[in-house]
Amino acid sequence: MTTITKLIEAEDIRNRVRDMARQIAARMPVNDPVLICVLKGAFVLTADLLRELGELGLSPRVEFLRLSSYGDAKESSGEILVLGDVPKDTKGRHLLVVDDILDTGRSLDFAKSMFLRDGAASVATCTLLDKPQRRVVNMQADYVGFEIDDLFVVGYGIDYAEQYRHLPFVGTVD
Ligand code: IMP
Ligand code: MG
Repeated sequence: MTTITKLIEAEDIRNRVRDMARQIAARMPVNDPVLICVLKGAFVLTADLLRELGELGLSPRVEFLRLSSYGDAKESSGEILVLGDVPKDTKGRHLLVVDDILDTGRSLDFAKSMFLRDGAASVATCTLLDKPQRRVVNMQADYVGFEIDDLFVVGYGIDYAEQYRHLPFVGTVD
């Protein structure tokens, strides 16, 4: 049987997302950045961040980028695939790529390089969780919710084999 152990409380996530929104609002060059939600894991964070930014007077656009590296396994395959369409109209725009977890760094590195190559004016990155011990490429996010150890986690949009995304907190899977 799978056991989930709570690691980060829902309320702590809410407060941290609000803090990140304040930092982003203070540093974004214009008030209409484009949030690029990396699917699927970042959809909950993106929705919360979007509304916090709205509270601060911003009106960001939202686009979605579906990346795949994990499949249903707990270990990354190392290869990043784009599934479906790449967001259009990113040329000349200020982007904020939002991901759930910065792990090996391959996904965010891939996304950032791709959007810069496509002519974005700037590409900032935001992640709910950062596992610095796991990094294999040189990638740091501009906005990090929480640094965590090398643990496999679920909840707040993050899955294990498509389960547990609904949990309001982040927990570890045994
Ligand atoms: P990276 O490309 O290795 O940085 O991997 C990032 C992606 O791997 C994240 O967006 C997640 O989808 C997935 N991932 C990494 N660690 C975990 C985890 O602990 N639980 C679930 N998914 C994870
Ligand atoms: Mg993911």
